[in-house]
Amino acid sequence: MQHFIAIADLSRAEIEALLDSALKLKRERAKGGNKPILKGKTLGMIFQKPSLRTRVSFEMGMRHLGGDALYLSPAEIGLGGRESVPDVARVLSGYVDGIMARVFDHQHVLTLAEWSRAPVINGLSDYNHPCQALGDIFTVMERRKKLEGLTFSYVGDGNNVATSLIHICAKLGIHFRIGTPADYELPAPVVVKAREFAAVSGSQIFETIDPHEAARGADVIYTDVWTSMGQEAETEKRKAAFPPYQVNEALVKLAKPDVLVMHCLPAHRGQEITDEVADGPNSILFPQAENRMHAQKAILLTLLGKEEGGKMKKEKGKSRPPRATKAKRKSKTGKR
Ligand code: CP
Ligand code: NVA
Repeated sequence: MQHFIAIADLSRAEIEALLDSALKLKRERAKGGNKPILKGKTLGMIFQKPSLRTRVSFEMGMRHLGGDALYLSPAEIGLGGRESVPDVARVLSGYVDGIMARVFDHQHVLTLAEWSRAPVINGLSDYNHPCQALGDIFTVMERRKKLEGLTFSYVGDGNNVATSLIHICAKLGIHFRIGTPADYELPAPVVVKAREFAAVSGSQIFETIDPHEAARGADVIYTDVWTSMGQEAETEKRKAAFPPYQVNEALVKLAKPDVLVMHCLPAHRGQEITDEVADGPNSILFPQAENRMHAQKAILLTLLGKEEGGKMKKEKGKSRPPRATKAKRKSKTGKR
């Protein structure tokens, strides 16, 4: 694993190794603190969008592991605007040992990874949110003996979070049911890929526009906001389409009695989830949020913890970008 860009890029063994490592790191911290394995290392964090969980959990995660993190706010850098993405990658990776980026255009994370000498972690793009999915499955793993064969139901928008979740479930043999309004399904290529993973793992993928069908018999019910960051112009249109997909007590009753209710947060209470459910006995929203940090520590350790996972390997390795010709450089410097 050289970067952490999308769940679809990881093997099942890599995902399972990260989950095991997250558990060890969480236990180690509870017993008095993590070993300072990342002493002297710094994570540069580029944010084009706001954040509470991603920013703080990465920053604290680096600190617990003896390293440091640098927050670069949406007002700074001007990724793809003030400066081209390849140039940002080449400059920043000379200062830091890892880059975490939260962006609009997924291509920007891919381009950062292509040109960075340090590992790149996707902290959310319009395409997916792999750190979220890893933390979420870790949270389920802590509460259920076995992941394989569980039924994970997602009700709401077929968005970036849903994309990472369908892929991680399909990789791990978890059945995935998704209920979305007709015009808000997951993109077809995402589902095609999930079905390929499912054919190997044995998980079943079920898509419906009926939220009740999606929730029936579920071990996990998951939802996310109806309007993601960057889609604010569509807020009213979405508010009209999504109410039948609200996760409320009636919907939760269709699932197993011990169903785990999850939400990546921030939540719009009263829209995609009611207070009764968010604060109810089945909700695991806040342990889920905390686990982002433990899961991301596992990612940090894997990418930054070993010499061969970081700069040294990349400088010798095949993914070092070819020397940029004038033509290539021109084609890579376009504004977003
Ligand atoms: N779930 C999540 O990524 O939260 P933030 O947007 O606060 O980082
Ligand atoms: N789908 C949401 C997730 C926020 C963590 C968004 O992209 O805004």
